[in-house]
Amino acid sequence: MTVLFYSESDASEPWREAFGRAFPQLPFRVWPEPGADEAVRYALVWKPEAGLLSRLPNLKAIISLGAGVDHILRDPQLPQGVPIIRLRDAGFAQQMAEYSVYAVLHFQHRMPEFLAQQRQADWRQLEPGLTRDWRVGVMGLGAIGGRVAQRLAALGFPVMGWSRSAKRVDGIETFHGESGLHNFLSRARVAVNVLPLTPQTEDILDARRFAVMPRGAFVVNIGRGAHLVEQDLLDALDSGQLGGAMLDVFREEPLPRNHPFWHHPKIVVTPHVAGVTIPSEAEAQVIEIVRQLECGEMPPGLVDRSRGY
Ligand code: GLV
Repeated sequence: MTVLFYSESDASEPWREAFGRAFPQLPFRVWPEPGADEAVRYALVWKPEAGLLSRLPNLKAIISLGAGVDHILRDPQLPQGVPIIRLRDAGFAQQMAEYSVYAVLHFQHRMPEFLAQQRQADWRQLEPGLTRDWRVGVMGLGAIGGRVAQRLAALGFPVMGWSRSAKRVDGIETFHGESGLHNFLSRARVAVNVLPLTPQTEDILDARRFAVMPRGAFVVNIGRGAHLVEQDLLDALDSGQLGGAMLDVFREEPLPRNHPFWHHPKIVVTPHVAGVTIPSEAEAQVIEIVRQLECGEMPPGLVDRSRGY
C-alpha cells in the first residue's frame, strides 16, 4: 500500500517528510520513481498526466494538491467512482485576498500611469480614485471568494459577490445565476474572478460580459486561464471598454514567450502565484484527509464530479 505523489514541480521533499512522520509504514513514491501500480492507494497530485490515474487499479482516493480540480477532471481516462478530494483552504484564501487587495489598489491608485510616467521622468500628479467609488465584484463565493470579498469590504470598498447558485456572505451584496451576472457586472468597476473552472464557467470573461461593465473597468483573473477569452480581453483593452487587467492564470502555462499579454501596456502578468500550496501550510490538512480515509471516513472537500468542484 503506497502513496503516489505527482506534481510538475520538484517540491516533493517536504511532502515525503510529512508523510514519513505521520505514516511511517506507508511507502511514499514520487512519480516517476518505479514501483508497483497495484500498491497505490492514494494519489496526491497536481496536473497529473492523462491516463496515469487509470493505471492504478486499487486507488482509494485522489487528493488534489490545490483548491482546483479541473487539472484532474480533464483526464479523459479518469477512473470513475474514485473519490476526489480537494484542499479547502490551506493558506491560499488569505494569499488570494491579499493579491486581490493589491490588484484593486494598483488600479485605484493609478500605478500603471505612474509607472509609465516614471519611465519618461514625467512628474505629474493624478488624483487617486475614492474608495467608495470603486465597487468591486468578486466572482465565486466559496471559501476563497468569500474571504476575498470580506478583505476588500474591510478596506471600505463597496463589494458585490456573484456565484452560480444563491449564497449569502455577511456585509456583501450577492447576486447569482445568469441574470444576476448582468446586474453584477454592470456595476463592477473591478471584477475579480476566483471561480472554479467548469464547463459552465469556461469563457465566462468574454466580450459580452466586458460590454456590460462600466467603461474603463478592470479585470483581475486569479481563477483559471480558460475563464478568459484572451482575444476579447485584448479587444476590450484596445477599445478602452476595459482600462486594465491583472492576470495570474493563463490558458497555456507557462505563458508562451511570444504571447501578446507579456508586453501589453494595460496588462500585469504574474506566473500563477496568487494562491500557492505551501507544504508547511497544507500538510496537516492532507495528512488528516489520509487519516480519515484510512479510518473509513469521508473527509471534507469531496468533489462533486457533476458540479466540477
Ligand atoms: C491553484 O491554482 C489551486 O487550484 O490551488
